[in-house]
This record gives sequence, structure tokens and C-alpha cells, in this order.
Amino acid sequence: RKRIVSGVQPTGSIHLGNYLGAIKNWISLQNTYDTLFFIVDLHAITLSYDAQKLSKATRDTAAIYLACGVDTSKASVFVQSHVRAHVEMMWLLSSATPIGWLNRMIQFKEKSLKAGDENVGVALLTYPVLMASDILLYQSDFVPVGEDQKQHLELTRELAERVNHLYGGRKWKKLGGRGGSLFKVPEPLIPPAGARIMSLTDGLSKMSKSAPSDQSRINLLDPKDVVVNKIKRCKTDSFSGLEFDNPERPECNNLLSIYQLVSGRTKEEVAHECQDMSWGKFKPLLTDALVDHLDPIQVRYMEIISDSAYLDQILAEGATKASDIADATLSNVYQAMGFLRR
Ligand code: TYM
Repeated sequence: RKRIVSGVQPTGSIHLGNYLGAIKNWISLQNTYDTLFFIVDLHAITLSYDAQKLSKATRDTAAIYLACGVDTSKASVFVQSHVRAHVEMMWLLSSATPIGWLNRMIQFKEKSLKAGDENVGVALLTYPVLMASDILLYQSDFVPVGEDQKQHLELTRELAERVNHLYGGRKWKKLGGRGGSLFKVPEPLIPPAGARIMSLTDGLSKMSKSAPSDQSRINLLDPKDVVVNKIKRCKTDSFSGLEFDNPERPECNNLLSIYQLVSGRTKEEVAHECQDMSWGKFKPLLTDALVDHLDPIQVRYMEIISDSAYLDQILAEGATKASDIADATLSNVYQAMGFLRR
């Protein structure tokens, strides 16, 4: 079976962008593919963070995966830092990663600009190498992510090819290995709708965990009255009727897309249903669809998070399974890179 991996950082609260861009798509994929979903806690320390909150956020994120429908009889769920191979692989891969590749990363440029040089740790620069390790350790075929991760996936692919070329094939065989590729070259799976959910207060910037205003996003765990309020106050426009894909109406496109995805309708159905609608009529419709979609997730979340023994057991089993796969790849790479083996 082909394999899929993906993960979310346990920073801030998981929002509709994370859900519609990534997690929701994992659910249908777990039936067809061998799937591993991790909580990338090691990535969460690349900007200043609160150590008092990290472990709780990690658990919460795991509970959200399960509440959204990740089924542990099919998928493995684990915490990145529980599988040591991620960090070890990162060191090996970082020796083969040109600094120029990292300097070019848009997320690095944006985040480091915002934080200022003195506040940016080296880990923010090498972040994509850790992400490549997350993916390549599992010989993944596909990686379901939102649009903003495309460049990181491109780097992962280039790095896989580079390491295969530098150390794989005949050279690896000479060192006693099996020969052939060390890594499978993975492909991103970016959904046709939902890959870039925009802020509720500005249709030109993406919904993000780090935006200062909580009004700009719907968090998966927002209670009903908060959702009602955020939609009531979200940015709209003064055109008449509602439509997709009008570049002059980014908010309209975004809100229709959200409605489409949470109501489970097709784009055509929504375009037809809403073409003559006013904002006053549409907003309650969107609110109801959102609340109906989020409510069962929130109920399940409460059940899961209150049973910490259950959650611990899931994460322990997930880490054991993941380690078996990851250690095999790591050991091959040590061998191919010429290390003395224990
Ligand atoms: P993170 O935690 O920023 O986001 C998690 C997932 O949510 C997607 N996403 C969005 N999708 C649509 N609209 C948005 N506004 C939006 N905001 C975020 C992201 O694209 C992502 O799929 N580097 C990754 C985590 C990571 C990872 C990995 C992912 C680390 N290692 C290996 C896949 C495979 C990140 O920071 O995601």
C-alpha cells in the first residue's frame, strides 16, 4: 500500500484552515492508504513559545486529530519528538542541504522578518530539513497539506533526489547496502478547494494561528456563540449577489468556499444557491453549517481529552509503529553515508 504522512504544529489553536486544508482530507485517505499522522512538537519551538504550554497543546492536537475522525485502527498517530529518528535524520540531511535552499524559503523569510534577527533561532532556518526528515523517514508517497507547504515539499523532493544521488545506488552497495534509492521522492496532495483558507478580516491574507486577532479565524473548538459572533463581524463587500472566483471579491470567494466544504455541497450547487443572496441572508446559513459541522467534533474532543490514559496509549502505540519504519530508513542512511555501525 502507498503511504501517506502529515502533521500539524501544536502552536496556538487549530483553526478552520488547518482542518479544511489538511486534517479533513486525511480522514478519507486513511481508508485507502497506509497513514501516519504526527504532532510536530519539535517544529513548534522554532519561534518563541511557552514551555509551560507545549505538552498540553501536543495532547490537545492529538485529541483533535481523533475528534476529526482519524481512526487509529487504520492510522498511526504519534508525537514527533517520541521518535528519535526525526532529529537524527535531520542532522544527516542538513549536511546535504545547501544553505541557499533554506534562505530562499518564503516562510523563513516572512517569519524571520516579523520576529527580527536577534529573536530568530537557527532552527527556524533549518525547519524545512526537519520537515523533510518527517516525510523521508517513512518512504512516503504522498503528503496531504495546504498550499502554504508547497515550497517545503518541493525542497523535500529535491533533497531526496540529492541524497539518493550522493549516497544511494552503487555507492551504497559498495558499503554493503542493498543499492537503489535511499528515499522515495514524495508528492504533495493539495486539495482543489480549501488549500488556502483566508482570514475573516482580510480576504487577502491566509487564516493563521499567529495572527494577533482571534476574530480573523474560526478555531475548531470555538463555542457556538463565538462562531456566531465572528461570522456576524467578518469582512464582506457591497456587491450584490454572491460569487466564486471574482478577484475583486476575495472575502466572498473565501466564505463561499468555507460554506461549500462544511456543508458538503459541490461548488456548482453553492454557486447556484447563493448567486442572488444578500450577505444578511448568507451569514446565518454559513453560521449554521459551521456550527453543525463543528459540534460533533467538539463533543468527541471533550470525550477524548478527558480520558488521558486512552490518549497516552494511542500515542505510545503510534510511536512504536512509527519507530520501526523510521529506524530502518535511518539505519540505511547511516550505512550509505559511511558511518561505523554499532
Ligand atoms: P502548520 O501547523 O502551519 O499547518 C498544518 C496544516 O494546515 C495547513 N494550513 C492551511 N490550509 C489551508 N488554509 C490555511 N489558511 C492554512 N493554514 C495552515 C498547512 O498547509 C498544513 O498542511 N510545516 C508544517 C508541519 C509539518 C509537516 C511535516 C506537514 C512538519 N512536518 C511533514 C506535513 C509533513 C506546518 O507548519 O504546518
